[in-house]
Amino acid sequence: MCGIVGGVAKRNLVPLMLEGLRRLEYRGYDSCGVAVHDNNGLFRARSVARVAELQTQIETIGFEGRAAIAHTRWATHGLPVTANAHPHFSADKQGKRRIAVVHNGIIENFDEIGAELKQLGYHFESQTDTEAVAHLINHLHDGDLLSTVQKAVKRLTGAYAIAVMCRDEPERVVGARRGCPLVVGLGKNENFLASDAMALAGSTDQIIYLDEGDVVDLQAHTIHVYDKKDGLVDRAVQTVQAYSGAVELAPYRHYMQKEIFEQPRALADTIAGSEDLNPVLFGAGAADVFRSINAIQILACGTSYYAGMAAKYWIEALTGLPVNVEVASEYRYRKAAVNPDCLVLVLSQSGETADTLAALKHTRDVGHKHSLTICNVATSAMVRETELAYITRAGVEIGVASTKAFTTQLVALFIFTLTLAKLRGMLPAEQEQRYMAQLQNLPDAALRVLALEPRIIAWADQFASKNNALFLGRGMHYPIALEGALKLKEISYIHAEAYPAGELKHGPLALVTEQMPVVVIAPNDDLIGKLKSNLQEVRARGGQLFVFADADSRISPEDGVQVIRLPEHYGLLSPILHVIPLQLLAYHTALVRGTDVDKPRNLAKSVTVE
Ligand code: M6R
Repeated sequence: MCGIVGGVAKRNLVPLMLEGLRRLEYRGYDSCGVAVHDNNGLFRARSVARVAELQTQIETIGFEGRAAIAHTRWATHGLPVTANAHPHFSADKQGKRRIAVVHNGIIENFDEIGAELKQLGYHFESQTDTEAVAHLINHLHDGDLLSTVQKAVKRLTGAYAIAVMCRDEPERVVGARRGCPLVVGLGKNENFLASDAMALAGSTDQIIYLDEGDVVDLQAHTIHVYDKKDGLVDRAVQTVQAYSGAVELAPYRHYMQKEIFEQPRALADTIAGSEDLNPVLFGAGAADVFRSINAIQILACGTSYYAGMAAKYWIEALTGLPVNVEVASEYRYRKAAVNPDCLVLVLSQSGETADTLAALKHTRDVGHKHSLTICNVATSAMVRETELAYITRAGVEIGVASTKAFTTQLVALFIFTLTLAKLRGMLPAEQEQRYMAQLQNLPDAALRVLALEPRIIAWADQFASKNNALFLGRGMHYPIALEGALKLKEISYIHAEAYPAGELKHGPLALVTEQMPVVVIAPNDDLIGKLKSNLQEVRARGGQLFVFADADSRISPEDGVQVIRLPEHYGLLSPILHVIPLQLLAYHTALVRGTDVDKPRNLAKSVTVE
């Protein structure tokens, strides 16, 4: 997804721009570019390849600049070709470049603005909505870039974060945001802009999170922030920790691998401090809210949605509260029944997913009173939008395929369930102790599951040549089957589907042949007997079974049935352990197939457009 970096300094900023773009690569992009002001005017380089290629281009052309803006683009309007890559320019009547713009988001009225500007003689070189913004700013330019941008953004509808430079003001960059994130980074005699604080790691940890509608005037020695009414405002400076170094890869080959193996640490960090099940962990007013609610509506996308599906089993079983889980992009457009006493719970790794954010705002618009975010990014839009929040401590997740964010979300959801149950008098002390002990031991249990990697590598070799795979689970392991299938298709590009095992005979059994690998999540729980019957149905049609069982599950390897046993059965927390081998299976299958594991085709880490 698109990323922005920019800055003004007393030194050449091109290396810092390229480093910023590299740090944003994990979000996914199809082209990139940098523009500088080098005192003779505006210059740019753009590439439809990787940031490394952009760097080679720049080394060949040899430009430098003390004011610069840079961008990674994920195409929304127009193909991923050089002409559509940012930065976009707008020229004066003599054809000399005057304005440079980078932009994240979608300008909904770009057609209308574009038509007006074309009539006035502006020439469009791209198919993007961004170029209309560049020409609009050029057209409105009154000699002062700040007031011009303030005027221009009032004409825009839709979502945007922009950074703008003007030929006539070489030591200035102006930024603005509405609906898309933009942060300011404070340096010594230099200041920066970025769509994500991580892009500035290593340069500064002093960050201002701009509010909706803010415009910022950035110069080397000063920063001025204006609110949506153009009033000068003071925005708090926050020290953003743990970014420097967090993105180093060694000794792993891929971020996804690193993040899978970081799970014991991430789980331990997320569990730390929750021993008392104190509702205040979710926010100051959480106790009152948790007592008053009569239902829960979970909204999320992708992997986060599957975490919500798994949590439904826990919440309904331990608290008796009805839970509805829905994909955010569907919920936001339907007329759902409104229950003001229902807690809206949004789940998100990034906290910036446009569909989830819009669904959350929609719940408020239609009258839901209470909302809670479980999120991995404390400063994200979703955390700021909800009344209550719980931050998972997975650490920065860079691989597009979510792994540690998922397992830490599950832990957070389990802690939420226990907190709710305790507060509502439904968690006997003995049960609470048992669950808390299990939680404390979970990181070690995860470590023991990771030790199964060599056996999973052997399975991956068998999967790599397949075109399809089926994943089966029952009960709270059905969402885990869904997550396993998503991981496999996302990074290995093997078509994979997941079903509750009992559904097999209602359709998908028709797909089962000797060519079809069927992955089964088979914990030793109450449903194991039923699951075994489902496995017989597959074997009878020649399907090849790959079973993840527990140490004490009575499932034995035989012709067409391969079994890997997890060291122990982990009760209600079993889904958190059973997803780990599925992550490893997807990772190693993708390795054999030689795909771009951390940046799978067509996907972005943070989906900030609809
Ligand atoms: O940041 P979020 O958790 O809101 O993101 C939601 C999905 O886009 C995300 O989980 C996606 O499905 C992952 N790529 C899955 O690995």
